[in-house]
Amino acid sequence: MSKGQLVYSGKAKELYSTSEPDVLQVVYLDQATALNGLRKDQISGKGQLNNQITSLVFEYLSEQGIDNHFIKALSPNEQLVKKIKMIPLEVVVRNVATGSFVKKFAAVEGTVLAPLIEFYYKNDALDDPLMNDAHVEVLGLATAEQVAQIKEQTLALNQALITLFKSIELTLVDFKVEYGLTSSGEILLADEITPDTCRLWDLKTGKSLDKDVYRKETGDLIGVYEEVLRRLERALTKN
Ligand code: C5P
Repeated sequence: MSKGQLVYSGKAKELYSTSEPDVLQVVYLDQATALNGLRKDQISGKGQLNNQITSLVFEYLSEQGIDNHFIKALSPNEQLVKKIKMIPLEVVVRNVATGSFVKKFAAVEGTVLAPLIEFYYKNDALDDPLMNDAHVEVLGLATAEQVAQIKEQTLALNQALITLFKSIELTLVDFKVEYGLTSSGEILLADEITPDTCRLWDLKTGKSLDKDVYRKETGDLIGVYEEVLRRLERALTKN
């Protein structure tokens, strides 16, 4: 299979068409951004770490019966995924209050949440506004039935990820995922699941092993991402 045209360029990855019409090639970049792209740095090795981490997580999810777009890793920083029609929604799950939730609602940092599912409109020009189910439906992003399916799938995903991360002594504090529609109209989990998109706190020390070390400039991003990969490999790699 050969790499074709660039079809999407994001903050941390690029997507290319391939010779297979239903398959895309994802290239994970050595780039970190914060403040919706206002801060940007090249961090050598980050792309490989995220590609390896998300590949292991998606393989684990498939084994748990949670369908997703991942096909296979191609190289240290590239993978193949199913081409689907992305829904411009960022679906955030919060198990513990922190980040923008604490800022926005003056909530107490560290409060355990039900969990809470939030929707954000994926739109850089509008700064990804928070939206409710009615906004999603009125703007035609998804039908009421699809919103219900997204919530159900996201709660199941949250449970599977909590179990996985707990087994490697990490608390899954919150995360963001995106979904798309297959050609037969099914909602399918897509995007990535990495320390760029999850907050992971060490169970013993409470320290962040995620992108917050870059956002808050409190530590070495590569060192903490390597630690997450090492723990996942120990738990998930068979042989
Ligand atoms: O910043 P906030 O507290 O809203 O982030 C919630 C979760 O969603 C965090 O795990 C963060 O990494 C993730 N997120 C993301 N991409 C965004 C916004 C948030 O991966 N554009």
